[in-house]
Amino acid sequence: MLIKKFAPALAALALALPVLSQAHEGPALPSAGNDIRNEASLQRGARNFVNYCSGCHSAKYIRYNRIAADLHIGEAELKQNLMFTSEKTADTIVSALPAADAKKWFGVVPPDLSLMARSRGTSYIYAFLHSFYRDPSRPTGVNNTMLPGTAMPHVLSTLQGVQTAVFKTEDGKSEFEKFELTDKGSMTPAEYDAFVRDTVNFLEYIGEPSQTKRQDLGVWVTLFLLLFGAFSYLLYKEYWRDVH
Ligand code: HEC
Repeated sequence: MLIKKFAPALAALALALPVLSQAHEGPALPSAGNDIRNEASLQRGARNFVNYCSGCHSAKYIRYNRIAADLHIGEAELKQNLMFTSEKTADTIVSALPAADAKKWFGVVPPDLSLMARSRGTSYIYAFLHSFYRDPSRPTGVNNTMLPGTAMPHVLSTLQGVQTAVFKTEDGKSEFEKFELTDKGSMTPAEYDAFVRDTVNFLEYIGEPSQTKRQDLGVWVTLFLLLFGAFSYLLYKEYWRDVH
């Protein structure tokens, strides 16, 4: 049987799948709940990204004019609202921060974010941007439960406010329990969730700008194959009718 022949390969695939789909270790994270087909959300995400992230992070695999075409943003609007670090619309998003300075200030160069949503997952980034908490022992004044000891400052603290982490001690081991928003920011928690969701949505989009087109095309390709398969089968029947 065919299935028997491929059984080892199928078993290997089944074993590999959870590893492939979940790069982050530990308990499953809540979904970011972003929607790559929501254009208004992607436009807001692009605005958030250039205003709050591109000061330190590049996105070197995406060009401004591609974003403008995909998200239906006019050239004037693009130049005025999104292009802070370059002049030409065919440029990719470079960071405003020279790598050498970044290394000096943070000890690491902030990673390029083009493929971050694909390597870490949208849920991870959503959780990461919700997990900064006050920690006076750190040079940035904050720490992060998703990436303990991170060099990234809490760049969204004016929006979210600053949280305090509550730890519970069990058998001498301290374990994270919950966050309390002790310093309020300019946004309500729900507004902040939406802000982060839009930003993560944009990061997912730049990770694979053709994703929605690929999916739409996939439906037609599958339909074609089904139809083609049906015709081939009929033809096969016709050819073999006299032989059987
Ligand atoms: C002031 C500079 C700065 C800004 C602005 C900034 N980051 Fe970062 N970011 C960093 C640094 C530095 C790191 C490397 C952290 C590390 O390795 O500890 C980092 C790392 C990251 C990571 C990788 C985390 C991981 O698990 O390795 C993500 C995701 C990220 N930033 C997202 C963002 C997003 C989204 C924004 C905009 C809302 C943003 N950053 C704005 C400095 C910045």
